[in-house]
Amino acid sequence: MNTPSSIISAIPRHLHTQPDHPLTITRQLIESRFPGYKTHNELFPVVSVHQNFDSLGFPPDHIGRSRTDTYYLNKDTVLRTHTSAHQADTFRANESEGYLISADVYRRDAIDRSHYPVFHQMEGARTWDRRTAEKEGKTLAQLVWDDVAKIPKHNIEVADPNPTIHPERNPLQATHSAEEVEAIAAHLKRSLEDVVVAIFNAAKTASDAGSPSADADEPLKVRWVEAYFPFTSPSWELEVFWQGDWLEVLGSGIVQQSILSNAGVPDRLGWAFGLGLERIAMLLYSIPDIRLFWSTDTRFLSQFSAVAPIKRFVPFSKYPACFKDVSFWLRTTSSAAGGAGHRVSPSGISASGSASASASATVSAIPGQAFHENDVMEIAREVCGEVVEDVRLVDEFVHPKTGRKSLCYRVNYRSLERTLTNEEANELHERFRQQLVDKLGVELR
Ligand code: PHE
Repeated sequence: MNTPSSIISAIPRHLHTQPDHPLTITRQLIESRFPGYKTHNELFPVVSVHQNFDSLGFPPDHIGRSRTDTYYLNKDTVLRTHTSAHQADTFRANESEGYLISADVYRRDAIDRSHYPVFHQMEGARTWDRRTAEKEGKTLAQLVWDDVAKIPKHNIEVADPNPTIHPERNPLQATHSAEEVEAIAAHLKRSLEDVVVAIFNAAKTASDAGSPSADADEPLKVRWVEAYFPFTSPSWELEVFWQGDWLEVLGSGIVQQSILSNAGVPDRLGWAFGLGLERIAMLLYSIPDIRLFWSTDTRFLSQFSAVAPIKRFVPFSKYPACFKDVSFWLRTTSSAAGGAGHRVSPSGISASGSASASASATVSAIPGQAFHENDVMEIAREVCGEVVEDVRLVDEFVHPKTGRKSLCYRVNYRSLERTLTNEEANELHERFRQQLVDKLGVELR
């Protein structure tokens, strides 16, 4: 059990179904691009390790399974780290050719304006049955191409430089033909491009209506890149150029046939994708900080409406930042260590902890357990709640004689809702420092 009560208390919030919440509106906008797909918005976040990892083909030593990355309730039960945890069961239920699952997901991670330990994903999948094709006297590929023709056309240019299948980097599965995969990949890509175009058209309308944004008149730039997930092959990510950077918006691929076979539907073939709803909503509304989604402040909530056209979010005044540093010596032990902030996989939320990977190596705070930056992050969350904006490693130092390692973290204390007094920030910082000692056994400098 490594799940703090602050995380458990997020479970009943159910932000993605709250009326007029930006995550709800974003979800509904995407759902509207998939007519006929069955939607699931109520799946409970407590799942088995089997559902979250084994059923999807994660190897036993995959970093995503580690206690530094995933919230365990006991050794066999976790808070789902992604909506893919429900893939096998949803395929097994076999209620529809296409489905969309939106849900809260949980990952231990760094603290900054785009990372929060609870966020929301949407998973989608579409499958076709080889027997249906046979009945209609077609190949499965022909059946799929018929459906590709039904997807609305767009006129943006999408860069897709790689071949659909690459024998080493992005292989075809043994039981699939290249024709089948070309057709399914085309359906996947056209469907998701349609979503992105719809989102960015809505975002553009929003920025035209509000204060002009630098990007308002720039044409939308989108590209497909090769990717890897244990549960799809070949796999791709979709990236969008936004405010000067390529931003990963979703992960996707051709579903591993073993998952469909194990789910009792061996004749079905198809695609799946997973995207981060916060990231899309942040783009859509220009929401600058992921903590805002959890706000109950009417200055936030009153700005969103499911029926009115999308408007850019107007930040209420930005309160001052308050930076405080903490430096400490790690306790050295003989235990080896893992990496920093690795994720199960990306899907819309950037890929790894922001601070240095070396911070986690070869030093242990908890006896018998490697020091991991995510433990620092979690203590900051526990002590400060939403009042911590980010925590960054600003310095590390190894003593030349003793070999002891020292780290310095800089915490930015800032509330989204009011100005903190210096006394308040000091008090939080003092509690943070004490908890680092009590929970991680570090020595303050
Ligand atoms: N579950 C993956 C993630 O969280 C995203 C994904 C879903 C990728 C479905 C491929 C297919 O990153």
